[in-house]
Amino acid sequence: MAEVQAVLAKAPVGLRCEYAKNPLGIGESLPRFSWKINDDRRGAKQTAYRLTVGTKPGETDVWDSGELASDQSTQIVFAGTKLKSRGRYFWQVRYRDQAGVASTWSDTAFFEMGILKTSEWRGQWVSVPLPFDKNVIGPSKYLRRNFVSRRPVKGARLYITARGVFVPLLNGKRVGNDIFLPGWSDFRKRIRYQTYDVTDLVVSGRNTLGVMVGDGWHTGKVAWNPRGLYGENTAALAELHIEYADGSYEVIRSDADWKGSTEGPIRTNDFLDGETYDARKEWSSTGTPAAWATADFDDAAWQPVRVEAHDKVPLEAYEGPPIRRKETLTPKEAWRTTDGKWIFDLGQNMVGWAKLKVKGQPGQQITLRFAEMLNPDRTIYTTNLRGAKVTDAYICKGEGVEEWEPTFTFHGFRFVEVAGLLPGQTPDLSTVTGMVINTDTPAAGSWKSSHEKLNQLMHNIVWGQKGNYMEIPTDCPQRDERLGWTGDAQVFIRTASYNADVAAFFTRWLVELDDSRNDEGTYQDVAPMPPGAKMLSGIAAWADAGIICPWTIYRVYGDVRILERHYDAMKGFVAYMLKKWPNLLRHAGEWTYGDWLSIDSWTPRELIGTAFFAHSVSLMAKIAAIVGKERDAAKYQRLFEKIRKAFNKEFVTPGGYLAGDSQTAYVLALRFGLLDEEKAQIAAKKLAHDVSMRKVLTTGFVGVNLLLPTLSQIGRDDLACKLLINEKYPSWLYSVNHGASTIWERWDGWTEEKGFQTPTMNSFNHYAYGSCGEWMYSAVAGIDLDEKVPGFKHLRIEPRIVTALGVGLTRCEADFATAQGQVKSAWSWEGGIATLEVVIPANASATMVLPGIENVTENGQPLADATGISNLRLNQGKTLCELAAGSYRFSLPLSAPEVSPAI
Ligand code: BGC
Repeated sequence: MAEVQAVLAKAPVGLRCEYAKNPLGIGESLPRFSWKINDDRRGAKQTAYRLTVGTKPGETDVWDSGELASDQSTQIVFAGTKLKSRGRYFWQVRYRDQAGVASTWSDTAFFEMGILKTSEWRGQWVSVPLPFDKNVIGPSKYLRRNFVSRRPVKGARLYITARGVFVPLLNGKRVGNDIFLPGWSDFRKRIRYQTYDVTDLVVSGRNTLGVMVGDGWHTGKVAWNPRGLYGENTAALAELHIEYADGSYEVIRSDADWKGSTEGPIRTNDFLDGETYDARKEWSSTGTPAAWATADFDDAAWQPVRVEAHDKVPLEAYEGPPIRRKETLTPKEAWRTTDGKWIFDLGQNMVGWAKLKVKGQPGQQITLRFAEMLNPDRTIYTTNLRGAKVTDAYICKGEGVEEWEPTFTFHGFRFVEVAGLLPGQTPDLSTVTGMVINTDTPAAGSWKSSHEKLNQLMHNIVWGQKGNYMEIPTDCPQRDERLGWTGDAQVFIRTASYNADVAAFFTRWLVELDDSRNDEGTYQDVAPMPPGAKMLSGIAAWADAGIICPWTIYRVYGDVRILERHYDAMKGFVAYMLKKWPNLLRHAGEWTYGDWLSIDSWTPRELIGTAFFAHSVSLMAKIAAIVGKERDAAKYQRLFEKIRKAFNKEFVTPGGYLAGDSQTAYVLALRFGLLDEEKAQIAAKKLAHDVSMRKVLTTGFVGVNLLLPTLSQIGRDDLACKLLINEKYPSWLYSVNHGASTIWERWDGWTEEKGFQTPTMNSFNHYAYGSCGEWMYSAVAGIDLDEKVPGFKHLRIEPRIVTALGVGLTRCEADFATAQGQVKSAWSWEGGIATLEVVIPANASATMVLPGIENVTENGQPLADATGISNLRLNQGKTLCELAAGSYRFSLPLSAPEVSPAI
């Protein structure tokens, strides 16, 4: 790049490698880079870039892309020399702006490789064997090893994993703040490990590395299955690599030199049943609870560990954000039950655990139970927890005020019941604190409107996501289930991607989804698939997550690699469907979930199956073209046409009725493009008619995320808006009106007439019905994807101001972080004037659609005169134009609409 420029453009910012800032221990041999252009001028754009990677800051010995004419600033694939195991690499980028002016170099970012080959691991699995009983939950394990560091340390890395879940400690201090690693993979197929920079924790002289191991998904209960699904014995595997300042190198590995104990304070640990902690067993004579992991601790009473060489299961880098502690909640209220227990209301259905603060007697047991709801007598309602015991117990040391929180369990709850307090031990609101955990996906969006109930609905959607994006996308956090239900995942993924950056989260889960396929090559109900679990496979709208989820990640983040990586699996799934349903009518004759939990309507299962078959295949036609498989693309397009034909023949009458005549049936046919123009028009009328007549939605899981977008597609934003704000059961706001702080599993989870639905399946934290969030962002606020350009590089801004005003909203504002930068759309209306603030990030552009054509101005000027606005056109009473990057303020006259929220 030309070095001599009068004024240099500002350096790029927000450098990311594999979706992460300065990641450690990545396993990707061809990592991808992205950056943001730090320029708020109108029309700011990248026209060229140069990226360098070196083994030292500022060096280019690994890769110099050279100056490339390109406006791409995301998903840039590394193309330098081979990256080495454990190597640290530094990178920088600069770019040329729209006028050809070069920027200064960015700050230096880095990425560090993990242990790239499983065969490089020399550590052994270490454990303390415990007798296994599938019905008896055991204690956690404590493992330790002393070592001496004699020279000044330059750098130290801990690579660690477990068959179970681990907490590493170095010299009594917890390493990192990650929770429940190595996460949940199919431990038979791959085990992930995590990398920590522990340079600052290694001290000169005597050191101790300690690891606590809990049962987690590996040995603990998973859903309704017995314990020990992946193995009866938990174990840890670790390597601490120390690089000394004098250039020497030492590795402390898990091996026969370690010692272990199962005699620590954690007496029982299980994700679903809870944890029992006996503080008297803290080895506290030596100081803090973590004293066992310090060099002064006398481990003479500990056992030698059992060692086992690593087998063939690949050890892979854990990539993407892990679960972390995110916030704390203080109870709003506490009361005493007639039998002397105390109940604390945290005011929010949350996922995590309760921290207990108590002054007790030695040996006094305090028992905590958790619930999402209350019985009419204000005791906790726990019947919907099914087989999960969800009970924690703390046994006091009796030494002053004791604070405790569990390590190896988590619960879904709003209410905490505390039992075991003695007379005189009256608690206060500091006795219990809600500790909220969730996968640490970076926040992306915020949405607010003048309608308080809609704001609460969005709050509930966000909290549903927080509580269920827990290592994998789960269905619910409270009962004996917490599975990665594929249907739920695909229904909610678009909404999720507005709330948070879920690219890395799904990148990891999609590997599990592939691993969970059965021998016939189909995706199944859940991923990971618990070994031996008898679940269904190939179910319409569930198995199709295998295509819909990667496709969505591609659309939202421009991630082509995710399509490439999963292409063969997706292909295999289509082949499976073709083999299984050669007449193209999918699911004929078999039981499936249908439009799961819909109310008062029936959509034939064969119709759902065939519609999803067609949809998956049509996506495959697009995906094949994107990954350069043109012949496949043509083949899938032809197959799509055939399925479409079969669909019409079987399910559409000559008069345009669809079998089932339900909202979901019309929605699927319209949204998936299964009807010719004439039939589509009839179907649109029938859908609108059904909504107007019933005045409520009738969709279950399968139709719910598509309902509002389909109403928009057929030009009925008005009906979509009215359904969104409808308060009559069944509706989104029905649960809001009844105090929900998360999304309920069922429209009728609790009703005035019937009270609670059946406890066998009644979660109050299930995100699927929260999938209306997509439309709240894309239509009410008006920030949407462009159908043809992935990654929000070109987007649509089309807030439905007139329709929203028509149901009483006067304001809506949303922010959304895309890979290019922050997008904003904020509108408000007052006294006949609508104002719209729009921000398009640098290096992106948008098509904007505004309601009205008269006197539309930007910053006081007619649109035609404003910079950054082009291709101005009027269409059916709307103003359309192209927006270059920048901040805009539009205003347009809009007369007071007649407000009629009723359908
Ligand atoms: C889960 C759902 C899931 C459904 C499938 C339920 O048990 O909680 O979220 O999609 O089963 O039928």
